[in-house]
Amino acid sequence: MVTLLNPRPDLWTLEPEVLHLNHGSYGAVPRRTQELMARLRTEADANPMVWFRSVADRLTTSRLELAGFLGTDPAGFALVPNASAGVTAALATIPIPAGSRIVLTNHAYGAVRYAAERFCRARGAEIVVVDIPLEADDDTVVATISAALDERTAGLIVDQISSATAMVFPIRRLVEACGGRIPVIVDGAHAPALLDAPAEDGADFWTGNFHKWPAAPRGTAGLVVAEKWRTATMPLIVSWSEYDERLPERFDMQGTYDYVPWIAAPESVRVLAELQWPERRTQLSGLIDEGARVLAKALGTGIPDIASPAATMRLVELPFSGVATPGEAESVKIRASRELKAEITLTGFDGRTYIRLSAHAYNSLHDYEVLAERLPTLL
Ligand SMILES: Cc1ncc(COP(=O)(O)O)c(C=O)c1O
Repeated sequence: MVTLLNPRPDLWTLEPEVLHLNHGSYGAVPRRTQELMARLRTEADANPMVWFRSVADRLTTSRLELAGFLGTDPAGFALVPNASAGVTAALATIPIPAGSRIVLTNHAYGAVRYAAERFCRARGAEIVVVDIPLEADDDTVVATISAALDERTAGLIVDQISSATAMVFPIRRLVEACGGRIPVIVDGAHAPALLDAPAEDGADFWTGNFHKWPAAPRGTAGLVVAEKWRTATMPLIVSWSEYDERLPERFDMQGTYDYVPWIAAPESVRVLAELQWPERRTQLSGLIDEGARVLAKALGTGIPDIASPAATMRLVELPFSGVATPGEAESVKIRASRELKAEITLTGFDGRTYIRLSAHAYNSLHDYEVLAERLPTLL
């Protein structure tokens, strides 16, 4: 029997008069985690010497809890500031010989593609972008990516849940297709809290953000490294833990830095547990389906038929012809924010522009109904 869980906007400090429909971009931090961060900062500023002496132990406690939340081996789990840093550290680790290729898809996050481009430029390698249709099923995804892999491939970077298209990729099957010969870097930026045990599909590297769906403080992400790469994987900042043989500890100490978000992050995980997260996530999937239907009806557009959509994000087509330029998209978002009091994001893919809706524990159907009423007046 499915229990109906009430929306809990009271657990957040979000402006109540605003429609917050884009959790997927920057998340939102529950009040309790914010309060814990404030207490920790007060402690740090009361005696910085004592605070910094306590940081290593506190980070160990936090890492163990976050690794437990992911269901991964803590010995292969390091803290990083964000998924961008996780992907960059992975690219810095794998051999990328001159003349080789890094394969990614047309769903890849722009900054991740830039990271691949930077490493390829420096090493005399090149990137190969594989086109995957929006409505591709898992078999098509695996067959299309597999066809692009050859003896020149130095690595595959693949989204676990894509940003532009909110689509779930079949990671385990792609890892199998790489057969242990081609290193696989999984961009799981959206995966924590949306997928169970997201880092356990056998990839060489997996990175994911706690500051998205688990609602942790911004600047909190994880990097999971397969055993064979653990000695070689280095943090982006060289600091005192440079020669630490243990991967997690090597990433802990990043010089004089604000460690409060990493230490406070488990509080958000505890909030999710109290929100009965697995059950709530199922309920939010139903909510986002309904919200997307309401909006598409009001706009007179459609919802792409994505074979494996992310649990809590949906695309709704906008009544534009072609892809909005970044300037046009920004202008729609700013006008929606100012004139409609709605925080939304737009994505462009394959010649079409979409709004990407999110649902988190503070949202209710009313939010999408109000957006459906207001948005047609803006477009
Ligand atoms: C798929 C994907 N990869 C990477 C990132 C980058 O995450 P961050 O800004 O935390 O580095 C994002 C951010 O939205 C994303 O959606």
